[in-house]
Amino acid sequence: MALSENNPIPQHIAIIMDGNGRWAKKRGLPRTAGHAAGAEAFRKIANYCRTLGVKYLTVYAFSTENWKRSEEEVGGIMRLLGKYLQEALRDMEKNRVCFRFFGDLSRLSPQLQKLCSEAVDQSADYDVQVNFCLNYGGRDEIVRAARAFAQDVAEGKYSSSDLTEELLSTYLYSKDVPDPELIIRPSGELRTSNFLLWQSAYSEFVFMNVLWPDFGPKDLDEAIAEYQRRNRRFGGT
Ligand code: IPE
Ligand code: IPE
Ligand code: MG
Repeated sequence: MALSENNPIPQHIAIIMDGNGRWAKKRGLPRTAGHAAGAEAFRKIANYCRTLGVKYLTVYAFSTENWKRSEEEVGGIMRLLGKYLQEALRDMEKNRVCFRFFGDLSRLSPQLQKLCSEAVDQSADYDVQVNFCLNYGGRDEIVRAARAFAQDVAEGKYSSSDLTEELLSTYLYSKDVPDPELIIRPSGELRTSNFLLWQSAYSEFVFMNVLWPDFGPKDLDEAIAEYQRRNRRFGGT
């Protein structure tokens, strides 16, 4: 692996797992086949992150906007998620990945919600934390945080002037998780599509042309190497 020894590997990497549909189209396959291949790519990358010693991996799997897709595609994605989670529960001991979910899970089927909570409960003691963004939207996350804070103000727990960046952060799905140093978007699109709007304030973005199902450890090395070449100033000089 040709990574620099000087700059640390990011402790938190976030990935917008995009390009499954185009990957399938190129092969004359249904979009769902692209999502299945994308799930495999995720499995490999999660394992590789553990090897690298990355502490947090946040992946965008389904956005608040993805419900706009056909019933067939959404149904296919949900079935694949169920299958993936069942396998993850079965292989928990081997993979040693700690699961968290960011997003409003209440819109998922009761079976899927149950698998999500089992995955969280059974993996709490493992060390690489995977934050799975499901029915997640950055704006939705901030609105929910604002609502929860307003509720606490109404109940007399806080006054509105108590609100700071730190306090607002504790109302987000990502509470207790440091902001990602590196956000990767494969598939060639140059936008965030509502991912980690609050947490990405000073993240380094790496956009890559590879489609997510083709994304492998070599591509992650390349993204990390690009991150390590960046000069992060955080507004300073
Ligand atoms: C990402 O791949 C997976 C989800 C958004 C659920 P896409 O399905 O968006 O693939 P493209 O962008 O159409 O190729
Ligand atoms: C972002 O990809 C969401 C996920 C990868 C889960 P999209 O494919 O939904 O984003 P747009 O539509 O290209 O912006
Ligand atoms: Mg897409």
